Amino acid sequence: MHTLIFATNNQHKVAEIQSLVGQDFNIIPLKEAGIDIDIPEPHDSLQENATEKANTIFQLTQQNCFSEDTGLEIDFLKGAPGVKSARYAGEGRDFQANIDKVLMHLGNSESRAAQFRTVICLVWGKENETKQTYYFEGICKGHIAFAMQGEKGFGYDPIFIPDGSTKSFAQMSMEEKNVYSHRQKAVTQLFEFLRSQ
Ligand code: IMP
Repeated sequence: MHTLIFATNNQHKVAEIQSLVGQDFNIIPLKEAGIDIDIPEPHDSLQENATEKANTIFQLTQQNCFSEDTGLEIDFLKGAPGVKSARYAGEGRDFQANIDKVLMHLGNSESRAAQFRTVICLVWGKENETKQTYYFEGICKGHIAFAMQGEKGFGYDPIFIPDGSTKSFAQMSMEEKNVYSHRQKAVTQLFEFLRSQ
């Protein structure tokens, strides 16, 4: 059994990842690990932010851990909001304000291609071995809807329609979202790596 701390306070991400975990992994969210901090995301890339989060938790715990950082990259907006996705409309990290800003910037444009990109940073080593850093990436391509659709999920889910579906992520169950999702693709690679160790 691999025990790993997951460096996040986002309960939606914890639930999505736990729904993908087999019996052979014990994923401990920050709250359960007794860690109550808001880790900053100050960098200009998903990889650097993910690294900062994982390193922060590793320094606190000296235990195997991983973090993830996700961005919504919209072609028409030259890759924005990207690494700034959480704070696109301001420091309040307000999902609705972020969505409103995206829809406002896209207006009636027919050019709505977008992707979610997740980068996972794993700090990992067997007992008594030096820990090393590994990265895994997952991309989900799709497009931005003209209006919000659905009530499920979180963040930009109500306006993101993955390629291969007519539904937004917010109209899907977690299991359905996992078929397409950026996070599922990155997490699958993470678990494959861990199983190979
Ligand atoms: P972070 O990875 O927590 O920094 O998330 C960046 C932003 O993207 C936040 O506003 C999240 O709500 C949003 N986000 C991350 N993952 C998803 C997702 O799977 N669906 C919709 N929005 C997401």
